[in-house]
Formats: sequence, structure tokens, C-alpha cells
Amino acid sequence: MEFIDLKQQYRRYQAAIDTRVHQVLEHAHFIMGPEIAELETALARYVGVKHAITVASGTDSLEIALRALGVGPGDEVLTVAFTWISTAEVIGLVGAKPVFVDIEPATFNLNLDLVEAAITPRTKALLPVSLFGQMPDYERLNAIAARHGLPVIEDGAQSFGATQQGRRSCGVTLIGSTSFFPAKPLGCYGDGGALFTNDDALAEKMKAIRTHGGLKRHHHPLLGMNGRFDTIQAAVLLAKLPHFEWECRNGAYRGALY
Ligand SMILES: Cc1ncc(COP(=O)(O)O)c(C=O)c1O
Repeated sequence: MEFIDLKQQYRRYQAAIDTRVHQVLEHAHFIMGPEIAELETALARYVGVKHAITVASGTDSLEIALRALGVGPGDEVLTVAFTWISTAEVIGLVGAKPVFVDIEPATFNLNLDLVEAAITPRTKALLPVSLFGQMPDYERLNAIAARHGLPVIEDGAQSFGATQQGRRSCGVTLIGSTSFFPAKPLGCYGDGGALFTNDDALAEKMKAIRTHGGLKRHHHPLLGMNGRFDTIQAAVLLAKLPHFEWECRNGAYRGALY
């Protein structure tokens, strides 16, 4: 049984995808073309937050979130070991230490009973994962984080489209992060990801880090990266997004739970 049938999915949306992609080939604004802003507006509306910032991958998005929060050497970030490598990898990449909190057997997600005991004076952020489309109890986790003055980043790479108490994954914490890897819930045809927040200052900072640390040409006040999302991939997602709710409800194109 195939994990996800991307060929069948493409055939269903082929006309819209081809049209959108050809528009990019014609206008030739391949880097940060108009499809990027159009997609970011649509994604922010879908998640129900003020800002969506598309990026080159779900790994870059996590790293950008940590950098924007000033996480660095000497800091600890609470997360889980039962996830894709990126979640812990990015903590190491910014020079901080991942502190693994155990998961609970029913959901494979962070065990919220164990979080508070793992917090130390060095803890700088919480990075829970919403694994296999299931979200930990974010109301409770946000309350724990607030008690300790800590920011929460949801790694929603596997849960885009999921909801909890009427709120969508990626819109339930200070920063939400997702991936558009082809097999992810909303997949493009290459690598991609996005960040979500209601915080204006953080949004500006994350946009700047995505683009070599600056928003004005040749001004680079921050240490950044080339983390931009590809315009052709944005065109693919603009064609697919209108069908995403239907896909989530019907488990479309998926051979099995992933
Ligand atoms: C939980 C989790 N976090 C992060 C990532 C990283 O996303 P990407 O492959 O787009 O870098 C993935 C998927 O690969 C993932 O499953």
C-alpha cells in the first residue's frame, strides 16, 4: 500500500496546478514572486493568525523560530525525542541543548505531567510536536509556559489542518511551524514550510532572518539565512489549498495513517 498517492493527487488538480505554475514561468519572478504574498495571506487566513511566513523547509522554519526568540548557546529547549530529527537538530544548530521530556503512550505526544519538572533556569523555550496529526493539550501547555514566562513553538509539521477546541494547529502557540514536504498534510512538490504568529515584532524578525537577516536590500542587521520559499512551490500550494479541507476530512490520497 502506498504511503501517499501523489500521482493521483496531481491528476485531480492538474489543470489548476499547471495553470498556476505556467503563470510563474511566464512572469519569471522566481524568487519571492507575487504567489508568495498571495499564499501567505491565504495561509494566515486558514490558520486564523495575523502572519504567515513561508520558508524553504519545515526544518528552516523551526530554526528561524528559535533564532527569532534569541535561543542560543547556554540555553535549554524542552522537546521530545519521539519525532523527526529536525526538531532536535535545530536546537543543536542554534547552539542550545535539547532537553527531552518523555511522551505519553496514548498519543505519542509530550507528557504534560512531566514538563514542569524539566524546566530549569536555563530553559529558554518549549518545542512540543503535534505528531501524526494529534495535538498535545495546548491550553494546558500554554498555561504551564506562561507560569514560567516561556515561549512555546508548536512543531506542526505533521498536523497542519488539525484542530483543537476550534483552533487550528500552528495557531495555538506564540509561534507555529509547519512543513510542506510532499507527504505532509499540505504538501508541495519539493521542500517548503511556514511560520505562523500573531506577534507583529516576531513576524518581522522571522521574515528578516528568512531573507539573510534584513528586509531592505543590502541591509542585514540580523544574522539570517537564505530560507525563502520557492515561488513555483507557492503556485502549487495555491492550487491545492482550496481542496485541503476536503482532503483532511476524507483522508484523501493516503494509504495509511502516517
Ligand atoms: C515533526 C517534524 N518536524 C519537522 C520536520 C521537518 O520538515 P522538513 O522536512 O520540511 O524540513 C518534519 C518532517 O520532515 C517532521 O515530521
